[in-house]
Formats: sequence, structure tokens, C-alpha cells
Amino acid sequence: MKIAVYPGSFDPITLGHINVIERASAMVDQLIVGVLNNQAKSPLFNAEERVEMIREATAHLTNVVAVPFDGLTIDFARRSGAQWIIRGLRAVTDFEYELQMAQTNRVLAPEIDTIFFTTELKYAYLSSSTVKEVARFGGDIDSFLTPVVKERTLAKLKERQK
Ligand code: PNS
Repeated sequence: MKIAVYPGSFDPITLGHINVIERASAMVDQLIVGVLNNQAKSPLFNAEERVEMIREATAHLTNVVAVPFDGLTIDFARRSGAQWIIRGLRAVTDFEYELQMAQTNRVLAPEIDTIFFTTELKYAYLSSSTVKEVARFGGDIDSFLTPVVKERTLAKLKERQK
């Protein structure tokens, strides 16, 4: 069985992430989207909320599951029985960090490879952090998130501002 994990913060999941999930899931039997439970990054959404939004946003893909994870991505990949780690590459600025992660992970587990998907041009600029910033200052985020994720993001930001 071909299994891949797609780890990330997904705070929240964007249309760019969904695009990578759609393309990667077409190549494997199962794609496991792993949401890093990383309090150090002070996420807007807790891991369970992020997982729930991913499940809703990928409900049309029958071979995709979303789960939270702690610790190292490579341990998560091993536990999941994955042969591949999926990551999206936007611009050259992503490359150095992604290369370092992929090479480190390969030393830790030579049996697991990282596969990069170059993002669609229309999502090349997109990041969860930018979307949150635009939303925080009242900008229109319709082009970046699904309607459900947009509503939750706006509601969460409102709740935080109280
Ligand atoms: O969506 P992000 O924030 O770009 O995802 C980064 C993530 C979660 C993939 C990366 O920070 C990660 O793998 N963290 C888990 C800890 C780990 O494995 N660190 C060593 C990487 S070589």
C-alpha cells in the first residue's frame, strides 16, 4: 500500500494546501495529513480545530485522512507506515528550509523520501500567516480559504480580539 504523510501547521488550511492534497492524494493509496501540535508557534486554532477544518475541506477525497501529531515528522511518518513525506514548494525562499528538513529526515530514516509539489502559480504567494494578517485588518480573504474555513477564521479572530 502506498502511503504518504503531508505534515504542516495548517493554521488554517488554505486553498494552496488543498491543491497539494488533491495532487498528492492522486498518487497514493492513502494520504495522511498531519497537523503539528506545536504550542511554541502560538497557533490561532488548536490542533483538533485544524484537523476538523482539514477533514471538512478534503471530504471529497476518500483516501485522505487528517490527524494531529506531536514530536518529529519522521517519527510520525514511520508510525503511519508512510514511504513518502509530501511538502509544497512555493518560491525559492522555501527551498533552503525545505532542503534542510528533507535531508535531515532522510538521514534519520533513509527508507522515507520527501516529495515536493511546486504550488500552482495562483497560490505561489499564499501562506496561512499572510491570510491571518489580511483577515486581522479586515481584508477580503475569499480567494484564499474555503467558505467554512473563512467563517471559522473570522470568528476566531473576533473571539481573540475580545
Ligand atoms: O506548515 P509548516 O509550519 O511549514 O510545517 C513545518 C513542519 C511541521 C513540517 C516542520 O516544522 C516539522 O516537521 N516539525 C516537526 C518537528 C521536526 O520533525 N523537526 C525536524 C525537521 S528536520
